[in-house]
Amino acid sequence: MMDSKYLATSKNDSGGPGSVNFSIKRKHDMLGISPVSEKKLHMTQIKQPVPLPVLLTSKRTTIEQHQKSLPVYNCRQRILRELELNDTVLIMSETGSGKTTQIPQFLLHAGYAKNGMIGITQPRRVAAITVAKRVAQEMSGGLGDTVGYTVRFEDVTSKRTKIRFLTDGVLLRESIKDRLLLKYSAIILDEAHERTVNADLLFGIVKEAQKERRKQKLGSLKVVVTSATMDIDHFGKYFNCKGMYLEGRTYPVRVMHAKEEQDDYVHAVLVTLFHIHRTTPPNHDVLIFLTGQEEIESLAHQIRQLAKVDVSGTSDLRVYSLYAQLSQNKQLECFLPTPANIRKVILATNIAETSITIPGIRCVIDCGFVKEKSFNSADGLDVLKSVRISKAQAWQRTGRAGRDAAGTCYRAYTKKQMDSFADATQPEVLRTNPTAMVLQLLALDIDCNNFDFLDAPPEEGLRSAYKSLDALGAIKSGSVSHITPLGRQMVMFPLDPKYAKLLLTASSFGCMEEILSLVSVLTSDHVFVSNTDKNEMASLAHAKFQSKHGDHLTLLNVFNAFVKTEKPKVWCHDNYLNLRSLTYARNVRRQLTEISERLDLVLNSTDDIEMLKKCLLNGFFENIAVLQRDGFYVTVSGNIRAKIHPSSVLHGKYKPSYILFTEIVQTEQTFLRQVSEISIEWIKEVVPFVKNIPTR
Ligand code: CDP
Ligand code: MG
Repeated sequence: MMDSKYLATSKNDSGGPGSVNFSIKRKHDMLGISPVSEKKLHMTQIKQPVPLPVLLTSKRTTIEQHQKSLPVYNCRQRILRELELNDTVLIMSETGSGKTTQIPQFLLHAGYAKNGMIGITQPRRVAAITVAKRVAQEMSGGLGDTVGYTVRFEDVTSKRTKIRFLTDGVLLRESIKDRLLLKYSAIILDEAHERTVNADLLFGIVKEAQKERRKQKLGSLKVVVTSATMDIDHFGKYFNCKGMYLEGRTYPVRVMHAKEEQDDYVHAVLVTLFHIHRTTPPNHDVLIFLTGQEEIESLAHQIRQLAKVDVSGTSDLRVYSLYAQLSQNKQLECFLPTPANIRKVILATNIAETSITIPGIRCVIDCGFVKEKSFNSADGLDVLKSVRISKAQAWQRTGRAGRDAAGTCYRAYTKKQMDSFADATQPEVLRTNPTAMVLQLLALDIDCNNFDFLDAPPEEGLRSAYKSLDALGAIKSGSVSHITPLGRQMVMFPLDPKYAKLLLTASSFGCMEEILSLVSVLTSDHVFVSNTDKNEMASLAHAKFQSKHGDHLTLLNVFNAFVKTEKPKVWCHDNYLNLRSLTYARNVRRQLTEISERLDLVLNSTDDIEMLKKCLLNGFFENIAVLQRDGFYVTVSGNIRAKIHPSSVLHGKYKPSYILFTEIVQTEQTFLRQVSEISIEWIKEVVPFVKNIPTR
């Protein structure tokens, strides 16, 4: 088939120089008419995995047949035997082979839930919720009955729950109250390769709990560590146990690399999609890996626009998004089958890499990037940025094309570029701000320096975390650091220590109600709808919430108006606001209020904006930036040069001398998002310990 016609993904090959918006003509170019492009994008085909026999589960197959068709089913006895002989077992097998949905059921049926629950951790809430639903369905029970889930701010379990899916964050918080995890008879640590900080901490905590329970004769804690791709040797040494590799079933996937480096991968992806759309039958669904919500929504919009005016005579396509912040219903939409003549195109983050299986995918387009939090211990700030994926991730993404039939994976990067990718993703503990982790551990009376890490975080980062926590008043540093009563209260909130500090000091500034609302709305991303056809209308609608004081007050205005409205759905629609985000924020607020009440915090309220902003400084004193003559801002921690994000209400117009920001984003440029104006006097008054304020 391919690829003599497969064309340039490079922006300048088919369009006018520097043109970014696609014209119709441009689209024809994209659809393969431009002769220049043909020779340029030719993708090279590499390594074909050996085809393996496959059992297909048709839509009509009964659940039982489906279960029996899964690779883990054949290994059931082996898994149970291993677990009987050992406390810990490592299981590695392909995505989609039944680890997450089946292994908990095996354990249940083998009687492991008699003396406690079976807990299965997931790095993401979406995954925890969708798999819980799936398993409840398979067991023909309601969600929250035998099978339930608990994620941050949402608990769907009952006394009868035996199989409980939960995020690793939730289990970690439980361990603060119950170090030995006595509620559980077995814990499955799923998606171990993701190596989130929480998962890494849990590895150490379950290991310790197993030891203690054995010592105190409290009943064994069985631990199963599962993944599609993990370093079995490394884990095996750490847990002192054996690994099992279960043979999976996959079809061969043809891999195509870009012939030339692509300077605009989103464009490359778009071109590739329409190439696929033009040349393959409509039942070949396409999964596209991108980095985040904004990119996904903007590309989805472009694809829909282009598909509408598509005159090439190809069939229709339907576009779905899949990312963590999406509402559950929206997330579940992409699992539904589309009519035979309509191609399903799913734009996903790395959420679709291993934790979620979407049936029917025959083509994968991989942009080659992932959004990652990383941290520089010199400045103490977590930066969210797009980075290259690892080789392991590239192969996982590729594998998604071969679940149901032979497929193709298009990589928007060259073979040579891929050679320079790291072999595996670096564990989060090695690259993110360890402040929250250090505090969590201290709440467990564990000093980070003595914790049994699978991979120990860099000392420099730990030192700066101790310093931050000391400044926040969460710990008392010394030769041995101790958590303070304030620090103990901070870990009661499932939030970053900075946000917890805000809530714990807000009463003394008289603005508890406002901070509760603000923190809630800050935990739910993307309140404003953008990337619509009607950007001007949207801006106009958003303008009425704008506060000259900055984005925090603007967000607060939105939230306050939202909770007052009687018809939230219509209101959000009319005002170009995200109903899901605001509803989520309202739920979060309810929960944070409950915790605050339990801690006897006074729920006072003020309309003194100065007090409110002073209060913000209490948590975010590391996030101050000072205007420079050249229009850039320089941050107090780390001297990072950055600009105010274009989405900010303070963008472009008058530039305040001193600002406070709650997020720093790095794309080609570095931006400060969610910004408020502050004054140097307040810094001196509220957080006098902040030194090294850059000069103007
Ligand atoms: O965890 P692992 O990737 O090994 O597989 P799983 O999530 O347990 O999924 C096993 C199979 O169940 C998948 O291949 C899907 O066919 C099916 N499944 C589904 O149809 N719907 C879900 N929400 C989850 C799984
Ligand atoms: Mg899984």
